[in-house]
Amino acid sequence: MQQKEITLFDKTFEPYLTESEILEKIKQLAAELDSFYSGKKPLFIAILNGSFMFAADLFKQLTIEAEICFIKLASYKGTKSTGHVITAIGLDTDITNRHIIILEDIIDTGKTLHEFLPQVHNQQPASLKVAVLLHKPEAKKFDVPIDYCCFTIPNRFVLGYGLDYDGYGRNLKEIYQLKPTE
Ligand code: IMP
Ligand code: MG
Repeated sequence: MQQKEITLFDKTFEPYLTESEILEKIKQLAAELDSFYSGKKPLFIAILNGSFMFAADLFKQLTIEAEICFIKLASYKGTKSTGHVITAIGLDTDITNRHIIILEDIIDTGKTLHEFLPQVHNQQPASLKVAVLLHKPEAKKFDVPIDYCCFTIPNRFVLGYGLDYDGYGRNLKEIYQLKPTE
């Protein structure tokens, strides 16, 4: 059966990960987190915008006592394209002595977490781990410790399940990959 391609603006995307493949991996991750963090009352910090769907589906699968909060990081690009990461919505929860798990949609260059993780460290959490839905190892420019990863993917732009192309496509239930141009 021919699977459906999606066109957004000037780009065409082809199906890559199905909804059931994504949810299956998330269930496995939730089971690991359930057993590791049992009794520790961890605090999940999800990074907006891209991780909202991953965070919601993962959090629904957890059975342990846990909290979640959201922060928003944005890449500030001035005229010189410094690409500095700014905090658009900050942490409103005290994380000192808490077990923290950062939830991120995708690690691409690693810049976002490379800049954010030291800020979390400075507030002296009891522990700090990183859980990501997708990881593109070939795009790496900054080292980021990744403790849990659902899918390691090639260095091609992906869309859907929270991830956008110019703001659109986040509502897709599946993950699509940019179609190579012939
Ligand atoms: P970083 O380069 O690891 O800092 O990733 C920055 C952010 O860019 C990620 O959190 C995503 O929101 C976004 N991003 C990176 N790669 C993709 C992609 O393939 N599709 C959609 N968004 C992406
Ligand atoms: Mg993101």
